[in-house]
Parts: sequence; structure tokens; C-alpha cells
Amino acid sequence: MKGLIINQFGGEEQLQIKEIAIPLPRSGEILVRIHAAGINPVDYKIRNGSLKFIYRGKFPCILGRDIAGVVEQAGEKSGYRPGDEVFGMLSLNGGGYAEFATVKESHLCRIPEGISMAEAAATPLASLTAFQSLQKGPRINKGDGILINGASGGVGSFAVQIAKAMGANVTGVCSKNNIEFVQSLGADQVIDYNNEDFTRLNQKFHKVFDAVAKSSFSKCRKILKKGGIYISTIPGKGLLFHKTFNFISKKKADFIMVRPSGNDLVLISDFIKKGLVRPRVQRAFPLEEGAQAHKLIETERVRGKLVLSVIRDCNNNSLPE
Ligand SMILES: NC(=O)c1ccc[n+]([C@@H]2O[C@H](COP(=O)([O-])OP(=O)(O)OC[C@H]3O[C@@H](n4cnc5c(N)ncnc54)[C@H](OP(=O)(O)O)[C@@H]3O)[C@@H](O)[C@H]2O)c1
Repeated sequence: MKGLIINQFGGEEQLQIKEIAIPLPRSGEILVRIHAAGINPVDYKIRNGSLKFIYRGKFPCILGRDIAGVVEQAGEKSGYRPGDEVFGMLSLNGGGYAEFATVKESHLCRIPEGISMAEAAATPLASLTAFQSLQKGPRINKGDGILINGASGGVGSFAVQIAKAMGANVTGVCSKNNIEFVQSLGADQVIDYNNEDFTRLNQKFHKVFDAVAKSSFSKCRKILKKGGIYISTIPGKGLLFHKTFNFISKKKADFIMVRPSGNDLVLISDFIKKGLVRPRVQRAFPLEEGAQAHKLIETERVRGKLVLSVIRDCNNNSLPE
């Protein structure tokens, strides 16, 4: 099969298309023929070696945590049959930037009707991060105030929509360029971070989800209600320190370590089926142009998600440029 591999840590030029063996599914795994693969910041962080202390993959390795495609092979006792359309999140070792991948059955979910393969591939890791983060702390009740920093990115664009689907009143934070986009996701209020410091708002929130980890618990504490929680996507030293005092503190600090979960994807698919959540794909690149896609995601300026189309026409509904 064709795979986009790296042979060592380094720049995006390390990504090369090579012929490699199709992986063999082990017990409890499904072999999926990939139509599209999602791109996440963790992919370039593995590629450039920033995560080498936790990454256990061997070279040559195939990056990519998100896939959408069709079941090629499933065990006799599996709930899936060849031809079923599925999407899911792979482990940290990746394997998604290729024509086939093996995935634990419990990490997969059927693709809900109404979204393309590209949109499905854009969904797992970012939507699971948003969903699992919003479940931290007290349950969200109708009208609860949730602030999402980085509302226009991969994780943030799902967080705005999922928080709205859960009944929250959502404030999104982004740059001026993305105000309309974040409004289109359903945010009730949008703040341009270059124009206003959201940590000085005269308003208190039940949850502050820092999807881009650009703020801190110390700065956000003032805008949290009693019993409120700040959740970040990157666990810095300060955050770990504050988290150890959660048992006595009225305002909590936490971080997310996203887990693959077919069950959570079923709940997210339900929101998609109801029209409450829609994956937003800024652009789909052919697999061969993975290096260009990595260059773009490293800018931290992507609106929504980027994907790689492994099968040429994976019916992408990209956002207007
Ligand atoms: N711990 C975990 O389990 C986990 C899971 C997923 C992701 N992550 C991490 O979470 C971070 C975000 O992931 P992502 O997929 O959402 O990334 P992304 O899609 O690449 O984020 C791009 C977005 O970030 C926004 N942004 C950049 N600087 C900002 C700032 N100073 N304030 C507010 N927004 C800003 C940009 O909007 P503007 O152009 O409008 O600024 C852009 O839309 C990454 O560091 C990723 O590695 C961690």
C-alpha cells in the first residue's frame, strides 16, 4: 500500500510517500481502507520530535491519528462487516496517513449520514478532545456560560458546537479574521483577542476551555464562577500545581488527555445527525501533499480542520477560502 512515512524526526520534508506492507489486524482489530485522514497538531509535534519522550513508534513510521474509510476486513465476532463506512481515532503511534490502517473495534464508529469522508476524517481527535474536556467539572445545564479560547481551530470549532448542543451559552475567543466563522458555529458572543482581554471580562463562566492553551488558570480564575473549572489542552507546570489543590479550591484547574472512544463518537455522531454539529474542513490536500498540509497546520492559523484525501474524490465540502 501507499503510505506517507517519516524515517526520522525533522521538518515537513521528512514526509515521503513509500510502498509499504498492509498492516495485519490482530484480535479485536478491524482493517480499514482509508478514504481520508485527519491532520492534527500532534502529528507535526511527533514529526519534529517535540513528543519523542512519550512517542513509542519505530521508524519508518506513519503519522496520523484520524481516519475515515470502509471496513476491509473484520473478525467473525465483530459488529462490523466489509463495506461498512467507519471513522475513528488511532493510538499515539498513528498509522492514518496511508491506504489502510488497523484500528481497535472499540475505537471506531459508523459514519453518520450527511457528512463526507473528508468531514468524517476531520472529526475524531478534535471532537473527542472537545467533548471529553466539556465533560470535566460540573454537568452543563441549559444556559450555563462556557468560554472557549481558540474557538476557530480544530478543537475549538467542535467545542463551540458541542457546548451549544449541550445547551450552554457560548463565548468564543478568536482573532478578528475568524469572528464570522465562530458566529456561524453558533457562538452567542465572540471576542477578538487582539481587541479585548477576555480574562478581564466583567462576566463569570461555569467553564473556561482553553482549546489552544494560550492562557492560564491564574489569569482565568477571575472569570470563573464558584465551582467553575478551567480546562487546558496542554498541562504546563503551573496547571499541574493548581490541579493538586482542586480538592480544597472552589475554582478548579484541569487538562485533557484525549482518549480514543467509539462510544463517545456515537454521542458526537448523534449531534451530527441532529444537525447540531458539523465538522468544518478548511482544506483537503492529496496524500502526496502532506508536507504542505503540515506547513500550514504549524502556522496555528487553520480555521477548522485540514485533511488528507487518500482516495482522490473523498467528497470534500471545504470552507470557502
Ligand atoms: N491534550 C490533548 O489531548 C490534546 C488534544 C487535541 C489537541 N491538543 C492541543 O491543543 C492545541 C489546539 O489544537 P487544535 O487542533 O485546535 O489546533 P489548530 O486547529 O491548529 O488551532 C488553530 C487555531 O488556533 C487559533 N489561535 C492561534 N493563536 C491563538 C491565540 N493566541 N488565542 C486564541 N486562538 C488562537 C487560530 O485562530 P486565530 O487565527 O483566530 O488566532 C486558529 O484558528 C494544540 O496545541 C494541540 O496539540 C491537545
